[in-house]
Amino acid sequence: MHIRISWVALFLLTFAGLSHFGFLQSSLRDSADRRGFNIGTSVDMQPFRNESAYVNTLRREFNMIVGGNAFKWDAVRPSRTTFNFTDTDALVSFAEANNMKVRGHTLVWHNQIPGWLTSGNFTRDEVIALLREHILTLVGRYRGRIVAWDVVNEAIDDGNGQLRTSSFWHQKIGPEYIRMAFQFAHEADPNAVLYYNDYSAEGSGTKSDAVFNLVRDLVNQGVPINGVGWQMHQINPFRIQTAHRTNAQRLANLGLEISITEMDVRISLPTDAQELEQQALAYRDATEFCLSQPNCKALVIWGFTDKHSWIPSFFPGFGDALIFDANYQPKPAYSAIQTALGGTAQPPPVPTGLSVTPGNAQVQLSWNAAAGATSYNVKRSTTSGGPYTTVTSVAGTSFTNTGLTNGTTYFYVVSAVNANGESANSTQVSATPVAANFTLAANPSSLTINRGASGTSTIAITRSGGFSSGIALSVTGLPGGVTSAFNPASATGTSSVLTLTASSTATTGTVNATITGTGGGLTRTATLILTVSPGGGTGGVTVTPAVTASSPWFNEEVIQLSNTAALSSLSVTITIQRTAGVSFSGQYNTIGGQILQSNSSTSAAVTYQFNLASGQMLGAGTNRVFAAQAGGSGTIHPAAGDTYVVTYTTGGVTFTQTGHF
Ligand code: XIL
Repeated sequence: MHIRISWVALFLLTFAGLSHFGFLQSSLRDSADRRGFNIGTSVDMQPFRNESAYVNTLRREFNMIVGGNAFKWDAVRPSRTTFNFTDTDALVSFAEANNMKVRGHTLVWHNQIPGWLTSGNFTRDEVIALLREHILTLVGRYRGRIVAWDVVNEAIDDGNGQLRTSSFWHQKIGPEYIRMAFQFAHEADPNAVLYYNDYSAEGSGTKSDAVFNLVRDLVNQGVPINGVGWQMHQINPFRIQTAHRTNAQRLANLGLEISITEMDVRISLPTDAQELEQQALAYRDATEFCLSQPNCKALVIWGFTDKHSWIPSFFPGFGDALIFDANYQPKPAYSAIQTALGGTAQPPPVPTGLSVTPGNAQVQLSWNAAAGATSYNVKRSTTSGGPYTTVTSVAGTSFTNTGLTNGTTYFYVVSAVNANGESANSTQVSATPVAANFTLAANPSSLTINRGASGTSTIAITRSGGFSSGIALSVTGLPGGVTSAFNPASATGTSSVLTLTASSTATTGTVNATITGTGGGLTRTATLILTVSPGGGTGGVTVTPAVTASSPWFNEEVIQLSNTAALSSLSVTITIQRTAGVSFSGQYNTIGGQILQSNSSTSAAVTYQFNLASGQMLGAGTNRVFAAQAGGSGTIHPAAGDTYVVTYTTGGVTFTQTGHF
């Protein structure tokens, strides 16, 4: 019996070992979220901006962040008059987008303050004003969005337990800078939880006593302080002692909360496996302590991957202080926190972000990864709300469900699975697969263009059922003289623009033009009602009046006519005023038998007429001449009364041009 239990224990240990790699269990934040516990880390901007593994791990494992340096004076305030919120905004936005809390670190510290401040020769009042302005600006900017601020950091000296008198703030303002900072922060965000933060403040000893005395005095003076941050920069091996509880309790008695704000456990290099197991105990202790100590509100570690830690550069010869190794693999310390959070036996959280795209007899599903999931069950129903049948189990976060019936609506949910079980179902989505198809529509669907002008209609292409082929477009049924162009001529997207251009002689009237699209073995059409109107045009006919002296015997007023399309009717009327000494002698034209000629009287105004005979057509041609001759005894003197009227029909439209010689 005893032996059998040992085997079971060994099996479980092996299983827990595998789980270091994050596949078999939920993340720290999932476990922490379930318990309402804050598990946090500081964030280093360089990997935050450049390493996806860093950001993914951060998002997956923590529900609280603090800027490693971003909120410090030298980062936020490059000069007296400028603030730079680029990094702080990025961190706060990231936290909000990922449902994380933010701690603010730090408003008053003797380190990482800018040179313009320390060497600025400011008076006490000026430094107080600068401090107030700084706190109101920074805390005010994130009012309601930062849960807790490390208002004053490391104000107590090592060893003697006195205030750090070498601090710029102490030297410029005196010890009152501490209460002032809390008052300014409270003024800026009355709901923020305000902390005094220090190292060696956690257990027993001169420093933690000094911290206790300081905050007790502040509380007694009515200064708005709410908590004490225990930085917890420890050296391996480290265990939580009774002294930690005693210290936490006396702070609780003052009405103060605590947070572990900067935990790391540095190991003298090189590190061996046993030291990593020792280190895990430190993290497990800290987690269990904070979970069980009623006034402990958060466990924040100072970074999470050994790839990015302040330890190697500040404590040469030490390293490996965090819970993921430099390759983002969880270390024993990670599993120890997880164990303390009770997270090992949990199924993954419910998958989020399920989306669906219908195709031809299929649908494509995708969803967000659920932390710690090893597979996902995809479940389907034809009834909204189920009951669902599991279609498949997949390791990835997408699935294409084929063999479906077009026109049927399918309802899907997804659950996440790991060795501990299955999550609840995701939110339901639905989709109706349809045959691959496309349709065309002209917009506008009726278009009027003048001769000599152009117009456009956008051909909208509606694709369905996953139809993605290119579609070659053409148009038929256009009136004579109208040309077309599609842009693009072969559409891979959802539209093409059709430009129609009517020549000056285009056939007028209204037609139904047919737009045809061909692609992927399908042909679809749309109708465009096109009207070509004469507009103010000439129908392609140029009329030029001229006065010529053609011979010694006569001269003439001439209409020169050029037409680019056939005329089905033509009437040219030329009226000449008689002037002294002029007699009228006749008329002619160069078109031979086509023109019926007539000469009217010899009255003061003489009208000459040229007409096409009924049924005659005058073909396209240039420089037809219709001449009204006057001769013999005088010269024609063009006057405003010498006029012409040319009326003709071309392309079914009748035009008139008038003028005078
Ligand atoms: C450290 C940062 O991690 C480093 O990147 C920086 O160079 C120095 O400061 N106590 C604190 C933190 O309150 O602000 C310190 O952070 C570590 C010690």
